[in-house]
Amino acid sequence: MHQLEINLNNNSYPILINKGIDKMLNNLFDKSNYSNIFIITQQSIFDNVKNNFLSNYPTIIVDENEASKSVTTAEFVVQELLKEGCDRESLLIGFGGGTITDLTGFVASIFMRGIDHVFIPTTLLGMVDASIGGKTAVNSNQVRNLIGTFKHPKGIYIDPLFLNTLPKKDIIDGFAEVIKYGLIVDMELYNMVESNFKELIELKDLNQIETIISKCCNHKATFVANDQFDYNERMILNFGHTIGHALESYFNYKKVTHGQAVYYGMMAAAFISKKKGLLSGEKFNQIYTFIFSILDLQIQDIDCNQVCKLIKYDKKRTKNKNYFIVLNDIGKAGIVKNVTTDDIKEAITFIANYEYSCN
Ligand SMILES: NC(=O)c1ccc[n+]([C@@H]2O[C@H](COP(=O)([O-])OP(=O)(O)OC[C@H]3O[C@@H](n4cnc5c(N)ncnc54)[C@H](O)[C@@H]3O)[C@@H](O)[C@H]2O)c1
Repeated sequence: MHQLEINLNNNSYPILINKGIDKMLNNLFDKSNYSNIFIITQQSIFDNVKNNFLSNYPTIIVDENEASKSVTTAEFVVQELLKEGCDRESLLIGFGGGTITDLTGFVASIFMRGIDHVFIPTTLLGMVDASIGGKTAVNSNQVRNLIGTFKHPKGIYIDPLFLNTLPKKDIIDGFAEVIKYGLIVDMELYNMVESNFKELIELKDLNQIETIISKCCNHKATFVANDQFDYNERMILNFGHTIGHALESYFNYKKVTHGQAVYYGMMAAAFISKKKGLLSGEKFNQIYTFIFSILDLQIQDIDCNQVCKLIKYDKKRTKNKNYFIVLNDIGKAGIVKNVTTDDIKEAITFIANYEYSCN
């Protein structure tokens, strides 16, 4: 079992990571503190992640995927909770991927001005990223995460066994965030993932997966503890996401998955880092060879100018003008402000035509 703490003074909470934790879930938090406990999940999780815990408490099922992250669904959950007798002393459990944890955190932050919640993430992205850090969100009018709050859970309980039912493409997507942690702060993690990628995505060794999840949670915990509200170094976690988010939006959240967009975004950011003389050609080629061996999607037809325009809607860029997360080395990221629109256009042209541009 790996156990760590997110240190946030009064908002501190534990993260437990253990293969087989599902058998212990009933004893993980003190039920006597709560008048009622409710689970929020999705049908595919209910059907696939066979777990007795799911039948122990009243369960509210919401739509699959991003469809669940809407104001309408949040209101639906609030009404269901009310019908079931939820009050200010109740606990919500978000049991699912990032969409469920974002939605559950959001509902927990607004229901009767805020009630407690915990997370049991079931996707790799949820385990290494989305469940940690206190950001809650729903989408509005096609804009991702437009409406949201900061509210931390009382605990996060992670069982890597839940990954066994997750489609392989979602595992590969989740690894985009793992590789991101490697690139920004942990060269050892990056090298380990790069050398064992094929075996890792087959989930052959869940002990190794558990260790990787624990390393990622530790990194995110450090960034969150140092910069709870995302004004300074937590922005480094946005490495690869500035261009990645613009690509997702360009494709209307359809042709590219979040993971594929982040892989492309990280490659574009590595390109800019090399262009600015921050990242060596040797390290750039190493990242290039690895990331393009994972990507199986062509984006040659994109309109680079249009993608570039979408970057200006990035919430964090408007707050901090032209900040951009670059790599100085594998395992060492930095924040710079001298990245121009032309640099970004060149990087997008590079990722769109990578097979012709790289030498
Ligand atoms: N709050 C944050 O800090 C943060 C960070 C990163 C991403 N996010 C959000 O996370 C969301 C994406 O989350 P995601 O990638 O986990 O996808 P997801 O939550 O949409 O899950 C994908 C699908 O897989 C199903 N599923 C989940 N676990 C399963 C399992 N173990 N077996 C079988 N099926 C399973 C779900 O029901 C869903 O249909 C986005 O909305 C993104 O904005 C939030």
